[in-house]
Amino acid sequence: MTTISSPDARAPLAAELPTIRAAYPALGRRVHGKPLVYLDNAATTHKPLAVLDAEREQAMWHNANVHRGVHLLSQEATERYEAARSTVRSFLGAAEDREIVFVRGTTEALNLATATLAATRLGPGRDVLLTGMEHHSNIVPWQLACQASGASLRVVPLLDDGSLDMEAFDRLLDGGVAVMAIVHTSNALGTINPVQAMCAKAREVGAISVVDGAQAVPHGPVNVRELGADLFAFSGHKVYGPTGIGALYGRAELLESLPPWQGGGDMIRTVTFEGSTWAEPPARFEAGTPNITGAVGLAAALDHVTGLGMDRIAAHEADLLTYATGRLLADIPGINLIGTAPAKAGVISFTLDGIHPHDIGTVLDHEGIAIRTGHHCAQPVMDRYGVPATARASFGLYTTREEVDALVVGLRRVQEMLG
Ligand code: ALA
Repeated sequence: MTTISSPDARAPLAAELPTIRAAYPALGRRVHGKPLVYLDNAATTHKPLAVLDAEREQAMWHNANVHRGVHLLSQEATERYEAARSTVRSFLGAAEDREIVFVRGTTEALNLATATLAATRLGPGRDVLLTGMEHHSNIVPWQLACQASGASLRVVPLLDDGSLDMEAFDRLLDGGVAVMAIVHTSNALGTINPVQAMCAKAREVGAISVVDGAQAVPHGPVNVRELGADLFAFSGHKVYGPTGIGALYGRAELLESLPPWQGGGDMIRTVTFEGSTWAEPPARFEAGTPNITGAVGLAAALDHVTGLGMDRIAAHEADLLTYATGRLLADIPGINLIGTAPAKAGVISFTLDGIHPHDIGTVLDHEGIAIRTGHHCAQPVMDRYGVPATARASFGLYTTREEVDALVVGLRRVQEMLG
């Protein structure tokens, strides 16, 4: 049975921000002589001391390989690695630990999903349905899989505000779709898609649902069973954890039905030169020595955000989004927001009339303000809105209104210098 968490009744996160920020050493540094204003959280988040300490402790005192040794250190490493899996399971609201596969990150998770589903589900007339706002990591692997299998890609178009065209979705999703692979929250637009309804419709037509949750997991509560996703991917480094670690959730029966995708140690039951047999999930999908330290660090990150309260993080970022949107529209003439969907995470993509996004990013950097500029690995989104690139400010749990104010001042400076 699915447990629905009750809203966190504690005071808003904003009151605790000085304490919270003190746990992130990087936020206290200076850049080009100015205090750092870090607004590139959709690219990667900073790591709190709890994560850095957990990784250090793991590497310093419990370093050994997992699942292989009878000696104490190996047992400790295995226990801590498997405890990290339980933490991920609980964070995602999954039913069982064996539904959590550790991977390098969302890209690897989506490649795992693609390779294994291509082998078992795709073919001519057994197509893949994507949306027009996918990250390249949820486009290119499917293109390769379609080329190899004879399946076709179907793409749900976007409306002018950055929402999905749900009427088109309903038309495109029919019995010829074998896999629906969709982003939960767009990194380029901030749009939060109606994933629960989309997964339910996919189930009705017998399609497997794959959800790219990289930008959803850091910004609010996620429960894979409530969403009804068959596969759900996320990265540690976007949720205040280490790089090089992430997880793929898979419904147990589905994972059991999938073939291995990488061969090596730990993923087999028996090996002979005549043939090999496979371990049960999740080991089947974790060939080779995993990122043990990373898994322990990821668990510390998830404990950190859970301790702060995912509801409170979501409310804080929603407040920042409203505040920032209002201030930018009021104080920055010639700003064009790309992505104004009603359901939106703390991501603001924009252009300024007459100024290239890269120049915006460069001038802001000299003011100590870190944003991302470019196509955000979502070139089809740029094509859809007729821009080569955007500037993007993205918020995290530690972002303050004062940092939004600094962005506004910085953008005025950009316009004075280049406008
Ligand atoms: N996908 C990451 C971003 O949006 C890297 O910046």
